[in-house]
Amino acid sequence: MNLNRRHFFLGTAVAARVASGQDVSSRVGTGVIGTGGRGSHLLRGVLEQPNAKVVALCDIKPDRLDKAASTAAKDNPTTYTDWRRVIERKDVEAVYIATPPHLHSEMAIAALKAGKHVYCEKPIGVTAAQVRELVAVARATNRVFVPGQQMRSYKQLGEAVRKIREGVIGEVIMVKAQRHATADLAHDGSSGDWYFDVTKGGGYLIEQSVHNLDLCNWVIGAHPVRACGFGGILMYKNDPPGRTIFDCGSITYEYPGGVKMSFTQNVFHPRGMPNGNQYVYVYGTKGAVDLISAMTMYPLGSGGTPTVLATKQEESQHAHIAAFYESVTKGAKLPADITIGATAALTSILGHEAMVRERVVTWKELGVEL
Ligand SMILES: NC(=O)c1ccc[n+]([C@@H]2O[C@H](COP(=O)([O-])OP(=O)(O)OC[C@H]3O[C@@H](n4cnc5c(N)ncnc54)[C@H](O)[C@@H]3O)[C@@H](O)[C@H]2O)c1
Repeated sequence: MNLNRRHFFLGTAVAARVASGQDVSSRVGTGVIGTGGRGSHLLRGVLEQPNAKVVALCDIKPDRLDKAASTAAKDNPTTYTDWRRVIERKDVEAVYIATPPHLHSEMAIAALKAGKHVYCEKPIGVTAAQVRELVAVARATNRVFVPGQQMRSYKQLGEAVRKIREGVIGEVIMVKAQRHATADLAHDGSSGDWYFDVTKGGGYLIEQSVHNLDLCNWVIGAHPVRACGFGGILMYKNDPPGRTIFDCGSITYEYPGGVKMSFTQNVFHPRGMPNGNQYVYVYGTKGAVDLISAMTMYPLGSGGTPTVLATKQEESQHAHIAAFYESVTKGAKLPADITIGATAALTSILGHEAMVRERVVTWKELGVEL
C-alpha cells in the first residue's frame, strides 16, 4: 500500500483506490444495474465521463440489456442478468443502481459491503427500515454514496437556495409546493410492472415527489418533525387493475420552529392550467420566492420591486454524474450524500405514512438516526 500525504488529504475514496492497487489516474470501472428508462439515461451520462469506463451492465429484461450494450459498445461491457455477478467483479469500482425502488437498499448495501462506490437512484428506500439499514452500512463502509437527487447539482437552483438561506427573504416560515402530473404514468408503459404497486414503487409521493420534497428541505434548511395528510384513489379506481398507489393527496408538514409546508400531488392536472403543474413557493418574513420557474423574489409590502435571484447558467445535464466521479477520483465534496438521500426518502415516507395511517406521524416514529 502506498498511501502518501497527498492521497490522505484527497480523502478516503482516493485512498481506497490506492489501497486496492488501483492507478488513481485510471478510468473508474463502472457497472450499471437496471438499464430501463433511467438506467439508460445514466449510462449515456457515464459514457460521457472521461474518467469512467463501463465494464458491466445488468438487467433482467434481455431487450433492455441488449440496447444498453449497444449504447456502451465503445467500452465493450459484459452483460449480466444477475446483479450479484456485477458487484463480485474486482474491476467494478462504482455501481449505478436504477432498478425499481424497493430493490435499491438491498443492492446498494451489498455493493457498499463489497467495497464499491454507489450512485443509487432515488428514493434510496421505500420504507423507513430500508433507509435505516442503508444509512448504517453507508456510514460504516465509508465509500462514496450519491443518491439520484440530481437537483442538488443544478447551479441556478443552488444559487437561489443559497440566497434564500442567507436571508434574502428574511426567515423562511412557510412553503407551499405541489407536484401535479398532467397524466397518470402509462399503464402499459415500460415501468407498468412495478410503478402501480405501492410495495415496489412506494407511491407517487415517495417515487416522484421525493425530488420536490428534497428541494423543500433544502430551502428550509431542515427536515420535518411531523406530518398529517390524506390521500386516495379518486380518478383511477382499480386502474390499472390491482392499483395500490394513490392518484392524489394533500399533506401538511411541520418543521422545527413551527415552519409550515403544504404539499399536494395529483395525476390529473390539465396541461394548459396557468402557473404550471409544479411549483415551490417559499415565504419569508420579508418576501416570497417562486423557486422552480421564475426564481424571482417578491418583497412584502407595497413599492418593492421583484428581483430575479438566479439566472440560467450553462450546465451539463450530467453534472451529478460528473460530481460522483470527482468524488471517487479526487475526493471532491459531494452535492448530495447519504444524509441528503435518506432525509429526502424519509420526508416522503413520513408524508405517505401520515396519509395511510390517517393521523399525525412524527419523524421520531420513523426510527432513523441521521
Ligand atoms: N433521478 C431521476 O430524475 C429519475 C428519473 C426517472 C426514474 N428514476 C428512478 O430510477 C429508478 C428506475 O426507474 P425507471 O423509470 O428507469 O424504471 P424502468 O422500469 O424503466 O427501469 C427499471 C429497470 O430495472 C430492471 N430490473 C428490475 N429488477 C431487476 C433486477 N432484480 N436486477 C436487474 N435489473 C432489474 C427492469 O427490468 C427495468 O429495465 C426508479 O427508482 C426511479 O424512481 C429517477
